Amino acid sequence: MKAVRTIEELRSGIRALQINLGPEATVGLVPTMGYLHEGHASLIRRARKDNGIVVVSIFVNPIQFGPGEDYETYPRDEARDLALAEAEGADLVFLPSVETMYPQPTKTKIMVSDITTRLCGASRPGHFDGVTTVVSKLFNIVQPDKGYFGMKDVQQVAVLQQMVQDLNMNVEIVPCPIVREEDGLALSSRNVYLSEEERRQALVLSRSLREAAAAVSEGTAITAGDIRNLLQRVISQSPLADIEYAEVVSFPGLQPYPDDEEISRKDEAVLMALAVRFGRTRLIDNRLFNPK
Ligand code: PAJ
Repeated sequence: MKAVRTIEELRSGIRALQINLGPEATVGLVPTMGYLHEGHASLIRRARKDNGIVVVSIFVNPIQFGPGEDYETYPRDEARDLALAEAEGADLVFLPSVETMYPQPTKTKIMVSDITTRLCGASRPGHFDGVTTVVSKLFNIVQPDKGYFGMKDVQQVAVLQQMVQDLNMNVEIVPCPIVREEDGLALSSRNVYLSEEERRQALVLSRSLREAAAAVSEGTAITAGDIRNLLQRVISQSPLADIEYAEVVSFPGLQPYPDDEEISRKDEAVLMALAVRFGRTRLIDNRLFNPK
């Protein structure tokens, strides 16, 4: 495995592997912000299984953080990340500096409309513009055949699929399942911010989603309003939980269902999505299911 910091080194690294492996070798890209955990590892493993060449990028992207968010304090551990990427079989790890990715005040950004204003987009204005801009840049730099993204950030997957489709980008977005701790908490680099008590109470996210999914699969009529109430009720059992949203929306369109809409009868994919604060830590989780 080779770790590189410049775009030139990365491109020549990919070219060298392509010459070695031949034109059949596809390129898989796993974009990350580092502080890698088993969720990231699962994406790298999937990319390794699917492709001849695997590139992992590690870049804490300043333009997707809003003012007052945790850009400065976002956890970083380059040595550990490189060891994990190597253990999972990455060929190249790209660790650009902010100056390398944004060398001068840039004048171009990629913006997906509508679906970026809902859920996380409502409380994090500009966040998804930062994501689509940096992912477009990474796609242009690496020119991967496939990009690997976790369903943990389900809105990010929907937004990137829309971007790739709208702009005819020749990259397949491969969504990968959410990796959880044994007790149900979805893995996140931000979990290190949680105190012991917050960590314990944070289990209400996965628990509320499990209970809501069980209620839907019972087969009795259940509306979007019922699911919202159930999610709110279970999460509110944790005194430290401050709910930002507990939503039931279509997927990938992310359109909220009216409260009286019967979810148990839908034959389209339905998404239950949560954002909940515990102290200064904002956690997200979701569950995608098909009622019929
Ligand atoms: P980051 O939060 O580091 O996540 C990198 C990738 O790992 C994302 O696709 C995310 O969905 C996935 N991931 C995180 N936790 C996961 C889990 N528990 N199970 C499965 N996958 C998980 O998402 C970003 O970085 C950035 O927005 C990025 C796409 C790199 C653009 O800057």
